[in-house]
Amino acid sequence: MPPTHLLQPAESPEPAEAVAPLMRGIAVLRRVTDEGGAMSPSAIERATGLARSTVDRITATLARMEYVRVDGRDVTLAPRLMELGNAYLSALRLPSLLGRHADALADELDESVSLAVGDGDGIRFIHQATRRRAMSLSFRIGDLLPAERTAPGPLLAADWDASEWQRWRERRAADPEGLVFTAAPPHTPPDEKDFVARAERARHDGWALDDQLIEPGLVALAVPVRSSDGAVVCLVSVVSHTSRHTAVSLRDTLLPRVLAAAAAMEQDLHRAPPAAAPDSPAPLASWTGASKQELGRGFNESLARGLTVLATFGEGRDALTSAEVARGTGLARATARRALITLEHLGYVTARGRAYHLTPRVLALGYPPLSLATLPQIAQPHLAALTGQVRDSASLAVLVGDDVQYTGRVATRRIMNVNITVGTRFPAHATSMGRVLLAALPPAERESRLARTRPYALTPYTVLSPDELGATLDRARADGYALVDEELEVGLRSVAVPVHDRRGTVVAAVNVAMHSSSRTLEECVTDVLPRLREAVGRIEADLHITERYVRVPAM
Ligand code: PHB
Repeated sequence: MPPTHLLQPAESPEPAEAVAPLMRGIAVLRRVTDEGGAMSPSAIERATGLARSTVDRITATLARMEYVRVDGRDVTLAPRLMELGNAYLSALRLPSLLGRHADALADELDESVSLAVGDGDGIRFIHQATRRRAMSLSFRIGDLLPAERTAPGPLLAADWDASEWQRWRERRAADPEGLVFTAAPPHTPPDEKDFVARAERARHDGWALDDQLIEPGLVALAVPVRSSDGAVVCLVSVVSHTSRHTAVSLRDTLLPRVLAAAAAMEQDLHRAPPAAAPDSPAPLASWTGASKQELGRGFNESLARGLTVLATFGEGRDALTSAEVARGTGLARATARRALITLEHLGYVTARGRAYHLTPRVLALGYPPLSLATLPQIAQPHLAALTGQVRDSASLAVLVGDDVQYTGRVATRRIMNVNITVGTRFPAHATSMGRVLLAALPPAERESRLARTRPYALTPYTVLSPDELGATLDRARADGYALVDEELEVGLRSVAVPVHDRRGTVVAAVNVAMHSSSRTLEECVTDVLPRLREAVGRIEADLHITERYVRVPAM
């Protein structure tokens, strides 16, 4: 594939104030995003045309910001990068105001439902309520599709002025195969006249169809959601497959319900109070407190500052002047201004009057691949780091029935634990992870479980009496950890702590398991537990960023 910059339609000349390291860093993030979230430095070098030393400096800076990880041969996007897309979605407010309507519609129709906004002459997804099905591909939050190959596109084009149509024609001329749209399978774009006619029909009908324009089998029906002044703010689509619906049957059977959902969305939107100004500014990025020495010579501050500008936006901070950005980031005003000018040039912010706004393009900085992460994927690097520190195996598990089921594991090569792999189940009552998971259940559920299950002895030490088991769970809840000694297997000792989601619900547990001869019980608490807690703190931080606008599967 040719370098991204060759595929961008001709844009305004680079402003004199443009911050070159920021432009290069963004080019790298875009490229790795388009490649699915991981790329080797040499592939980045080839794709961007940057020198290897520049690529290394950029990735080192991004790694220090926790936006990427450099492990083994690859540069991998890290969950914290989603704070940029989260800043956009939070400033936009539409996912938090309308997302639950889209989810309810998907449940009602048992079909995938998406919300998209216009982005230049494309549409970009801001919410997905996806029914996973074998047959059809589904798009991710942040994916961009060419307007002419979608159902929402004609509804947006219905309001385009002459210059917007002109931009669309120029893009098609510059990129006839639509290579900039990396999320869409290649396909001959529909004829220009078709799209003009679809836009006219959409203006008249108030809905539009996609009859397999993206790929064979995929059909979609879209309707607009309008603000109180009549402007289209986003589009709701129902997406199905020709094995269940034709485009026409989608409209005939589902249009009334989609229109009703859009009307309910509009009501919520029009009634929503204006976003409250936040009582505190966005927290400063972690690297801003570090000294130059701590950051190292490879750290590129211009890049870090520029990206931090994006993270300063959010709900109630959707329109910021350069002075406000300077205050929010702790940057000098001239620095903030230059970063904003650069970001505007690249299309990540737009200026209206003196205020700047984020654009949907911010989602192209990592969101699509990162939004698909599962909890085990999020936990994996932290389990690996923990295993490296304590030199014993670290695992992640969830409660499944009366068992714990391993969903992640980084093992050491010790004889003990060879038989445990992802998918392994053990009776919850006799394991440290099971204890913290049972301890977190609502009291009534915990009671009914303890009454129902007959704990059985796995070793002579397995706690069996319901009273005693209840007491160990109370202790685990109060202490925030569970220590289990030889109850599952003689010679095996383990300590576990719970993993909480954003709302504070326990969704999994992490443990370290070891041979009883390797540490005393006390050493488990003094040496292992603090590191276990730190690792879980990092897993939780990544989970909370990821699940701000996305459902993260527990396994
Ligand atoms: C989608 O949400 O995946 C979608 C929406 C509209 C289309 C195609 C796909 O036209």
